[in-house]
Amino acid sequence: MALKDVLIDELRDLYSAENQIVKSLPKMVKGAKDAQLKEGFKTHLEETKEQVIRLRQVFEHIGKKPTGKHCEGMEGVVKEGKEALEEDADEASYDSGLIGAALRMEHYEIAGYHAAIGMAKTLGMTEVVGLLKQSLDEEVNAAKQIQTASKTIFKMATQEEEDDDDAKPASKKSSKDKTSERKSKEDETQADGDVKKRGSKAAVAQTPEPVEED
Ligand SMILES: [Fe+2]
Ligand SMILES: [Fe+2]
Repeated sequence: MALKDVLIDELRDLYSAENQIVKSLPKMVKGAKDAQLKEGFKTHLEETKEQVIRLRQVFEHIGKKPTGKHCEGMEGVVKEGKEALEEDADEASYDSGLIGAALRMEHYEIAGYHAAIGMAKTLGMTEVVGLLKQSLDEEVNAAKQIQTASKTIFKMATQEEEDDDDAKPASKKSSKDKTSERKSKEDETQADGDVKKRGSKAAVAQTPEPVEED
């Protein structure tokens, strides 16, 4: 498998990711309470449609078809976004959850575009690089706008009532919550041995060197 094949794979992955976003972003537009955040999502939805078209142009340059690979990563990110949309939270706290999900979405795309641009550059595919860079710039800009909107929203969310989820009795938790808790515990347990080893190293590294007096 040559680099060009890897690039085509990356691009198909991105194409699937963008299509998934075209499908899911309208729910974020609808869900967002803050006007600035809502507007930002709306603008980016239109940009995302353009990005799908741009990727089709990229594939025309390469002479391949864009379909063929489903982006599993974006499916997971979109699923987390869906969870944020289902949260029962006060206005700004609710938007804060959407911001976390949306930033994950943008940065996942940014990573994909960076990889594809690097490969296309190496292969000397100037037109492809140009097209991909336009989309990358839009992604970076979208992430920046979300972060700008987040400043006031996060501040407002500090004024909202706290909800102590840990204090909920097990019987009040949904089966989805319980599965999530169990899996999170498994993640922790599986990593724990390695983290502990690292922890002791970090502790050693942090121990200040004895100061030699002269
Ligand atoms: Fe995108
Ligand atoms: Fe995006």
